[in-house]
Amino acid sequence: MKINHFTIRFSKEMIYRTIQCTPDSPVYEEIETEYGSVQDMAYKLIQPEAYLALATVPAYAACETVPEGTSVLYVVTTLGKAISEWSSRLFAEGNYPGGMLADAMADDYLFQMDEALEEAVLSICREQGYGVRKRLEAPNGIGMEIQRAALEAVCACEQPEITIKESLMYDPLKTVCQVYVLEKGSAQYNMKHHCRECPAVGCQRRRVMPVTILVEKSGEDTKPVRILCKEGQTIQEALVQNGIYLGAVCAGRGTCGRCRIRVLEGTVPVSPEDRKLLSAEEIKSGLRLACRACPETDCRIILESVEEQFAVVSEFEEGQTVRKTADSEHRSLRMGIAIDIGSTTLAMQLVETESGQIIDTYTAMNRQRAYGADVISRIQASNEGKKQELQACVISDLQRGVRTLLKSNQTVNGVNRVAEISMAGNTTMIHLLMGYSCESLGVYPFRPVHTDMIRTDWAELTGEKDTKIPATILPGISAYVGGDITAGMLACGMDRAEEPVLLVDLGTNGEMALGNRKRIMVASTAAGPAFEGGNLSCGMGSVPGAICHVTIRRGRTEVTTIGGVGAVGICGTGVLETVYELREEGLLDETGLLDATCFAEGFQLAEDKQGRKIVLTQKDIRELQLAKSAVRAGVETLLQQAGMTGEDLQQIYVAGGFGYGMDFEKAIGIGLFPESFRGKMKAVGNSALKGAVDYLTQRNAAERMERMTHMAQEVLLSNSKIFMEKYMEHMYFDE
Ligand code: FES
Repeated sequence: MKINHFTIRFSKEMIYRTIQCTPDSPVYEEIETEYGSVQDMAYKLIQPEAYLALATVPAYAACETVPEGTSVLYVVTTLGKAISEWSSRLFAEGNYPGGMLADAMADDYLFQMDEALEEAVLSICREQGYGVRKRLEAPNGIGMEIQRAALEAVCACEQPEITIKESLMYDPLKTVCQVYVLEKGSAQYNMKHHCRECPAVGCQRRRVMPVTILVEKSGEDTKPVRILCKEGQTIQEALVQNGIYLGAVCAGRGTCGRCRIRVLEGTVPVSPEDRKLLSAEEIKSGLRLACRACPETDCRIILESVEEQFAVVSEFEEGQTVRKTADSEHRSLRMGIAIDIGSTTLAMQLVETESGQIIDTYTAMNRQRAYGADVISRIQASNEGKKQELQACVISDLQRGVRTLLKSNQTVNGVNRVAEISMAGNTTMIHLLMGYSCESLGVYPFRPVHTDMIRTDWAELTGEKDTKIPATILPGISAYVGGDITAGMLACGMDRAEEPVLLVDLGTNGEMALGNRKRIMVASTAAGPAFEGGNLSCGMGSVPGAICHVTIRRGRTEVTTIGGVGAVGICGTGVLETVYELREEGLLDETGLLDATCFAEGFQLAEDKQGRKIVLTQKDIRELQLAKSAVRAGVETLLQQAGMTGEDLQQIYVAGGFGYGMDFEKAIGIGLFPESFRGKMKAVGNSALKGAVDYLTQRNAAERMERMTHMAQEVLLSNSKIFMEKYMEHMYFDE
């Protein structure tokens, strides 16, 4: 069927929107002057024709969406050659406003033809007993070949002056094709264009209404929250914007598989990353990766991420106790709040400053984790325009913690006695908290805005006017050796030690400080996410169900999980121990190669509730090798630069959550630390928090910290030849 009679008038509003011309545009006047004459000419030159043909899809144009033999109705619409030739001429003559207008008018006409043809499409379908299952805009969602098939189908009944080029584009240029996928006997007519599904995201006509998402939390009976997901937003972005936390370890790149949600109602298409990281059953049951999920309709989802239950270490050394008081015994005492702002977690303690007694503790996830697990992802996010979002995120987390501590420890009269707040964090966390630019943190030579001690006020920092409490941010040393390490040095008393001691804090970065009262040297090395269970096939943080201890004896594997619940994955210490045990059992050679019996599938440690195998793969082992050689090389380079060996050290303090659960024998066994450390290692837990507490409770703490930051010399590992040599040397397991 051919239709060539259309009574269409241009929509000036849509044409101006297409060329993005508003009264503020510098070319507005010019466009206004040209509009009338271009319009008259365009009406003369446009020769509208539409061709409609029923057909079945031939083999050469078939695809998953329209298999061979699918009944379709092709609609090929053209404006003829004259209009596009004229607009090209206008551009060639330098009349850009005229050319743009002619082009936009042609597009507007084509869009309106599409609407005008709806009646014809509907009547053909009804006459032939078809419903319309879907409308496809060729070649989107189908192969380019469908354009040839459509032309062949319409040519069989009419002789349109349309040809197809080698590139499978139509000539004339202003020709488009729609494919209506038909269904015999159906009374559904899904004929409309859906902007949300259209890949032309830059189209000025695009109009996508936000969808509503009802968010529930897994295993919680809190009230569901209703949020809006705007055009172009993923569910992850919408959650973050609404202050709902869901860990995004890979910063939304779709590689970590942590940001899981389950879609209970509504349509959220399956993404390629879903197919890669989730099993077919999981996808079928509604599981999706939030960072890749673009909902097509309103939906109801449940958050599946388990990160809220992260085991946050707030203790220092073993046995530090918290005295939670419900009575008013401390109401007349002077209190302080110490805060450790970690990249992964936040820990706070309310402390009685005279006695040093810990009154209460608060821990939580750092919700900035929704922007990525490591500091590099946060720096990137900040540099990409999310600086204020990140600042607001950490401030609201801190406010929540401080309010909780104040509320549950009020004096009888409701007046709190908190006299000071101290905060320790790595340099990136402090930059994000203060709203400093992170531009120079992420690029060589890695310069911070500054790392000095900051004395401010809680009200000024957070905008919480009622809470006027002096607040101090503890000083750091460099871009990658921050106030958390300086606080740790204070906690370990490095500046008072006669003999050299080493403090190592292991996470995605391995930060280390070596020294005594005379001299301090520091360094930092990028360890990658393996120690925190990141980037591993079954890796996870320290949450209930994470395998944290492993023994393998004569082929029998025994695992211990955090919380003693069923295994769901492996955390950092579990990975370290598995590697050690595999070496002991002879299932892993000195180069890190798994035995042939488990090379292909990985070594199985357990099964989860759904029968999914929890394995450590060859790739996971490589990740651990990279992390362990980076730390070992860092430690040895620092020692060498100081003219020392491990024998010279009196004590090695291992800080952080990973170090807290670490079996030092096994860590030395895989070569993470040298043999000379044996018997001298001590897990100290959260040394940054302890340092922040010490700042509040110890006289001269501020002076001591300032002195340490000034005397510390940094050894830059990134351009150290010694480090590179040692890094290669310690990649393997042969001690
Ligand atoms: Fe979504 Fe990593 S896969 S945040």
